[in-house]
Amino acid sequence: MGQALNGSDVRSAGGGVPLIEELLARMTLVEKAGQMSQLPIFQAETTAQTIDAVREGRVGSFLNAQSVEQRNGLQRVAVEESRLKIPLIFGRDVIHGYKTVFPIPLGQSATFDPALVERAAAAAAAEAHEAGIDWVFAPMVDIARDPRWGRIAESCGEDPYLAARMGAAMVRGFQGPQPGTPGRVAACAKHFAGYGAAEAGREYGTTCIPEQLLREVYLAPFKACVDAGVLTLMTGFNDLNGVPATGNDLLLENILRGEWGFAGFVVSDWGSIVEMVRHGFVEDEPHSAVVAAQAGVDMEMGSGAYANLPKLVDQGRVALRTIDEAVRRVLTVKHRLGLFDRPYAEPRKVSVTLSNEHRSVARELARESIVLLKNEGRILPLGPHVKSIAVIGPQADDPRDQLGCWSFDGEAAASLTVLAALRERCGRDIQIHHAKGVEDCRTHDRSGFGAAIEAAKKADVVLAFVGEPANLSGECRSRAFLDLPGVQQELLECLAEVGRPIVVTVLAGRPLTIGRTCELAQAALYAWHPGTMGGPAIVDLLTGDVAPSGKLPVSFPRAVGQIPIYYNAKNTGRPATSHARGIPIGTPLDPEGFESSYIDVDVTPEFPFGFGLSYSSFEYFDLRVTPSRGKIGSSATIAFQMKNAGDVPGVDVAQLYVRDRVATVTRPVRELKRFERVSLARGETRTIEFALTTQDLGFWGRDMRFTVEPGVFDIFVGGDSRAGLGATFEIE
Ligand code: NOJ
Repeated sequence: MGQALNGSDVRSAGGGVPLIEELLARMTLVEKAGQMSQLPIFQAETTAQTIDAVREGRVGSFLNAQSVEQRNGLQRVAVEESRLKIPLIFGRDVIHGYKTVFPIPLGQSATFDPALVERAAAAAAAEAHEAGIDWVFAPMVDIARDPRWGRIAESCGEDPYLAARMGAAMVRGFQGPQPGTPGRVAACAKHFAGYGAAEAGREYGTTCIPEQLLREVYLAPFKACVDAGVLTLMTGFNDLNGVPATGNDLLLENILRGEWGFAGFVVSDWGSIVEMVRHGFVEDEPHSAVVAAQAGVDMEMGSGAYANLPKLVDQGRVALRTIDEAVRRVLTVKHRLGLFDRPYAEPRKVSVTLSNEHRSVARELARESIVLLKNEGRILPLGPHVKSIAVIGPQADDPRDQLGCWSFDGEAAASLTVLAALRERCGRDIQIHHAKGVEDCRTHDRSGFGAAIEAAKKADVVLAFVGEPANLSGECRSRAFLDLPGVQQELLECLAEVGRPIVVTVLAGRPLTIGRTCELAQAALYAWHPGTMGGPAIVDLLTGDVAPSGKLPVSFPRAVGQIPIYYNAKNTGRPATSHARGIPIGTPLDPEGFESSYIDVDVTPEFPFGFGLSYSSFEYFDLRVTPSRGKIGSSATIAFQMKNAGDVPGVDVAQLYVRDRVATVTRPVRELKRFERVSLARGETRTIEFALTTQDLGFWGRDMRFTVEPGVFDIFVGGDSRAGLGATFEIE
């Protein structure tokens, strides 16, 4: 029996490196392949085969342990009964909370509040850690410009800068100031890379992304996570430019490790190594292991290809050096997490799971995530004249659905719905007439319409809660139609005929095509799937206890045919100057106006990126760029005044966009470079300043080098991506 490496050995050896080397020197090939293998657990009972695999060192990690007891039981076998006593690492999908569920990541991104997002990730880490989880498979920082793709829910949206800020905040929240911080876990930035660009939004679809776009848009948030110290990355399922992401050495070796100096480890996605056979990239399972290991995938999730590694090394198909590198990286992360010292999950003296503090972070985050899309006649917040409300729709009282996709550990019993919160908040002063209208979001049964209409007739205001159930977004939930499922739209049409004002709140995992929905309503809120505290958060906004401040992290299309539609697109040689022109019957074959537009729908989105109203209104003026010219390497201060011109306090997210007028590679019409949530009392004016360096104005050139070019840059500031207040900066 070999001698174990224990915590004190590691500490005394000055950070563990020499002893990791010593361990490596003692490991058999089977044990090395074991450290590179992660197995799923499906049952509460640990099977004899699983225990044998741990005892024999054939596994280094598990995902989805069903309980702390099961986790600690397996860990005990690893650290007491296996030959080298190397601890296991336990991972799980803790994507937007553990028991306390926060808004879906797309909603979190709508807060434009990285500091709060970081607090939520820290709370999720604390609850997960308490449950024996060492490693969470988040953040997901795939850029998503296609709402047909169900995993847009899990993303930070369409913009690389916003996703980078959010991804880095999540990494800091999950991991804490350094790996191994008590009560924190390892994070995993996923899915490296390009997965969100699936053709036609179809799950697992092919991705074709030119390298320049890849680096500038799709890789940028990953780079930010690496810079924030993320310990692990997960590869994508997608074929990227002809090479599956899981076998992509350009991504993993050249860019991630070579250029960025990433020293953590890379895990495959579930089964994505053997899936390279179906991609037609490798011949069989052993071949998939060769390609993945050589590309730099250190650990295999969910399938058994890496069990072939010992044989493949013996056959000379995989270099021993490649295996040693991978094992070294896995052991280093385990060591940095403190698993050699503290392999077991220990109960906390006082549990933090679902604590008041976590629930209040969840409420705050949900409040900030909700976007006010329309508020005609300032119908919101509900005034004191409202004495009775009709609460209608399938999403008003569905404690499970409001948790959203990827919330396996969330408990419906712990979540507070809008109906419950309304009853608590205004039960006595305001009469509530509740009728679902439809049993669930997808049904075509209209038998509940009558009761809903009756409820509406009795009310001063109709509050309608519609949307998409949680199980229609997330993995493998691509949709070709993006309207409200079932007969919800019809229900709204019937309610509109009653003639009472309608406030519609949409709970959904993606942007839906809600133009008509918003037309029928006087006010519209987009609440995403808001999590455990979604109900009270929505009520906080409806009643005006808090003013809405969320901003869209993704453009909302008018029609599916506009997709992909995103604000930071390139111009064309014939940009649209008018809105949808229409082609009247009898129009000659040689139409006028050869412009980049549609004949049947406006070119603009229904709601643009960065958009969101408040109960107040904000003015931006007096923009100054100082200095207005500078050399490469210099910086400038962008200062402007922001005024709350309304009669209530409010928060607006000040956004700074740039446009490079002329460059050797065509540039997007706008790019977000800075943002800040600004809270202003009514009538208050404040000066806001952002610092930009010329580095912020650079891009990836045709030679695939990051370059900063002289020229004139437009600078725009305002409350959304159409920001009109402009100035220029010139790089000499
Ligand atoms: C597949 C998903 O793509 C990935 O994001 C997730 O972490 C793993 N399954 C594990 O559940």
